Amino acid sequence: MCGIVGTIGTGATTQILLKGLNRLEYRGYDSAGIYVNDQDGQDYLVKTVGKIAALEAAVGPQVQGRIGIAHTRWATHGQPSVANAHPQFSGSKRFYLVHNGVISNFTALKEQYLADQAFASQTDTEVIVQMIAHFVEAEAMTTLAAFQKTLSLLAGSYALLLVDREDPEVLYVAKNKSPLLIGLAAGYNVVTSDALATYDLTTDYLELRDGEMALVRASDVTILDQQGDTQGREPIEIKVEADAIGKGTYPTFMLKEIDEQPAVMRRISQHYLPVDQPIAIDPALIQHVAQADRLYFVAAGTSYHASLVGKRLFERYAQIPAEAGVASEFGYHWPLLSAKPFFIFLSQSGETADSRQVLVEAKRRGLPTLVITNVANSTLAREADYHLLLHAGPEIAVASTKAYTAQIAVEAVLAKAVGERRQLGAAQSFDLAGQLALAANAMDEITDNHQAWDQLAAEYLGSATDAFYLGRGIDYDVSLEAALKLKEISYVHTEGFAAGELKHGTIALIEPGVPVITFITEQATADHTRGNVQEVKARGGNVLVIASEACQQAGDQIVIPTLTDELMPLVTVVCGQLLAYYATLQRGLNVDQPRNLAKSVTVE
Ligand code: F6R
Repeated sequence: MCGIVGTIGTGATTQILLKGLNRLEYRGYDSAGIYVNDQDGQDYLVKTVGKIAALEAAVGPQVQGRIGIAHTRWATHGQPSVANAHPQFSGSKRFYLVHNGVISNFTALKEQYLADQAFASQTDTEVIVQMIAHFVEAEAMTTLAAFQKTLSLLAGSYALLLVDREDPEVLYVAKNKSPLLIGLAAGYNVVTSDALATYDLTTDYLELRDGEMALVRASDVTILDQQGDTQGREPIEIKVEADAIGKGTYPTFMLKEIDEQPAVMRRISQHYLPVDQPIAIDPALIQHVAQADRLYFVAAGTSYHASLVGKRLFERYAQIPAEAGVASEFGYHWPLLSAKPFFIFLSQSGETADSRQVLVEAKRRGLPTLVITNVANSTLAREADYHLLLHAGPEIAVASTKAYTAQIAVEAVLAKAVGERRQLGAAQSFDLAGQLALAANAMDEITDNHQAWDQLAAEYLGSATDAFYLGRGIDYDVSLEAALKLKEISYVHTEGFAAGELKHGTIALIEPGVPVITFITEQATADHTRGNVQEVKARGGNVLVIASEACQQAGDQIVIPTLTDELMPLVTVVCGQLLAYYATLQRGLNVDQPRNLAKSVTVE
């Protein structure tokens, strides 16, 4: 959420910043800006509303220098506008700042320190840069002292890059709760929210801890803690799979990522379930989970939906009671915990602030934690006791697809491993490799026929302004995810509903022609769901049934292979993803970058 990049000591500053912003665009794309200083007193500030392409077009060839900072914005305080775009600057135009995060006490700080100051924007960020300027210009502090004093007064989350144009030999950097990495390149340095922005420049990064700041110069970096004491830090290696970042021959990242799912299932199987060998998961993790008396899944959005499936998998195959919680709720309303809890965080990005907040508190309480994530070296992966990788390859489209199915597959692997450790027959006889192979084949069949999904989307969702997904049990879980996919990219108002719950109120919304897409894959509840379908049809709802072979009836529009109940979402969700995809294309909307969203939600 907001992406920042900075560099010092290279003649290629502008190119590095713009390339980095393009790669960080998934973090926000409502406005962007760049500040570059040539260290001979010439500086440039360019800001535009809209995508990075607009900024690139506005940055002329003269914008060159040896220090620079840049930002792509997902608006929190103040609407998208040039004035609110970053870099923000002091009234004196001496200090320039980019910020990712939210400062919760900015109004109080403004009143206390800057009562007479004129402001050019509505952002919390401008308050930070004006405070630094105030301490330097009105209280004669050094820039370093002013930066440190300001940091000590801020409440909230931030990753900050500051330039003092009177001392362009140093980039001031600070971090609290928002991601930030300092990349060590040959003869110059870079700073970024995500190594994706700079993967072609270096693989060596220094990680800042919450509350720390750094002075980044062309050839060295000094890290200071809150007391101002120098901190030693070894670089970590971060390699980004560069090949997987392009769209290839696909028109969009989302379609590419939907189509990659069969390969991801096979990769997970190969990685975690080697033939004739034990499951490839750290035995200490398996043992730790096996000893728990209750599992607490914590996640947001699509990852939360995958954790609903995880709950079912662990209860069935590992026989451990489990709860799934929405991170932003969990963080403020901790349940009464069991005696031996174990926390499992699901996060594609490994950066979601809501989830991290719970992780930090879990660690503070000394509770064991696992993160299942797609990004090795992400904040959550680094901070949890254990992490398992999804091996899904970079997910670039804002709407999550392959991460969801990968999360379910990895949850299943761990559930089986834990169940086997507990010597449970259900786990021992669970042919997970076989199930994942079946799932991959079924996904192949579904994704092989894009045209059919295009037609179905036109037929059922073509002119819809409202839509429903229905299901019971595991089909309800996937209804929530299918509904999220449709609403977030097509802007069709969509709800996922427990089929039996519909008649308790929501059925009042069913009018002639309203699309109701129903998943029927659970034999135990299939007849009841069929009854709900009749209720909807009786009120004119336009029902599309997606059924498993085991539950199939004449007239069902889509029939898919049967897997064990808990793994059915691996296949049913692909139908939902493709319906959402084509319904969105048919509306002429940007599938990969839906409005108001960002891929990595790093503010609470
Ligand atoms: C929806 C979507 C979001 C994310 C959510 C959590 O398509 O992508 O709902 O699932 O923001 O993100 P991660 O998984 O990165 O923690």
